Amino acid sequence: MSQTTKDAGPDRLATELLDKKVLTSDWLAAYRAVPRELFVPDAIWPGRAGMNRQDDRILRSESPNMWFEAVYRDAPITTQWDDGQYTGPKKGNIASSSSSMPTMVFSMLDALDVQPGNRILEIGTGTGWNAALMAHRLGDPNVVTVEVDKTIAEEAREHLSAAGYRPLVVTGDGSLGYGKESPYDRIISTASVQTIPSQWIGQARPGAIIVAPWGPTYGGEGVVRLTIDDGGRAEGTFIGSSAFMRLRQQRRSLPATERFVDPQTWPAEAEMAMTTLSPDDVGDWIAMFAIGVQVPDLFCRVTYGEEGAYRLWLFDTGVTSWATADFLKGRTEFQIAQAGPRRLWEELAAAYTWWDIQGRPSFERFGLSTPGGPFYSVWLDSPDNPVPRQSGEG
Ligand SMILES: C[S@@+](CC[C@H](N)C(=O)[O-])C[C@H]1O[C@@H](n2cnc3c(N)ncnc32)[C@H](O)[C@@H]1O
Repeated sequence: MSQTTKDAGPDRLATELLDKKVLTSDWLAAYRAVPRELFVPDAIWPGRAGMNRQDDRILRSESPNMWFEAVYRDAPITTQWDDGQYTGPKKGNIASSSSSMPTMVFSMLDALDVQPGNRILEIGTGTGWNAALMAHRLGDPNVVTVEVDKTIAEEAREHLSAAGYRPLVVTGDGSLGYGKESPYDRIISTASVQTIPSQWIGQARPGAIIVAPWGPTYGGEGVVRLTIDDGGRAEGTFIGSSAFMRLRQQRRSLPATERFVDPQTWPAEAEMAMTTLSPDDVGDWIAMFAIGVQVPDLFCRVTYGEEGAYRLWLFDTGVTSWATADFLKGRTEFQIAQAGPRRLWEELAAAYTWWDIQGRPSFERFGLSTPGGPFYSVWLDSPDNPVPRQSGEG
């Protein structure tokens, strides 16, 4: 790649983001002042937009041109696997830190609706790029960012200082917020949650805005924009789909399949049936979200067969019941097995049917209210239209 092409990278990405209408004119100056390349580390595993996959590792020190091209693509970039335990050339198990997709970065900043003088708390410093963008717009003293991983936090401080910014980078558990510098006018999380921590609400001023990726155990996730009222209640709508890494403390280690059934003995004692609802239909990200909200203790795994065939396994976190649905290409009826006191496929089907009957609403029609404790309610169109529970815990 020639020097000219290299210089065009940031401009090309700016044009793309402006065309997509995610980079607004009020964030353009920050984008231009804060080059992403100053924050992305030497070793990266570039992701693909809208796809849950990563390419092999690229080292800047070995392949500077490929590295530079990846940095100025509108795609997420994994920068750490397995909390730093894996550093090899392929993929680790869990992507534990990243530079988020630029479209997502600027959509979330836009939703944050910052005003001059606002004090901001960010949870999930990562590379420090987002913190630098906010520090450019609001000034270093108005930005506090919390990162749980010591090495990542240290690297972010170095990136920030090299770029000329000095927001407060706290090494700690962002699920506790950061009380010392509260109250905040805006809180942004770049790690996803299943429960909005009560500390975030407690450290926010009335009228403050929280922007955070939120998703149930089953899967599906969207960015929610909540406003805090005088009584400490947070409420608002989802602005679109997302796929962030979970806040470390809210990562759930789900029970192993063998605790439910030995897969070799399938179908064991299960009750068999046929269904016309395709396992493929229930696998859309938004359908998963709608199912997960209605059956909060449900989770799934998939085992793959030949020629596109797969088995969808359903389990409950209380380890009482399991079910399978077998997908075969070209079929209109699918075999179901269900075991235990609950009929998990039927619960899932009821949840899917509810979503279907509502006209298959997208994320933007859903909203979330949280009274400041560990409980939440998800609603459709209006807070007085809560999404029903089809069963499951709490
Ligand atoms: C998607 S990355 C952040 C991207 C970042 N904002 C940027 O501009 O590069 C999510 C980050 O959240 C961090 N994280 C996870 N759990 C956390 C917690 N409880 N408190 C603070 N940070 C956390 C991860 O270590 C990871 O670095």
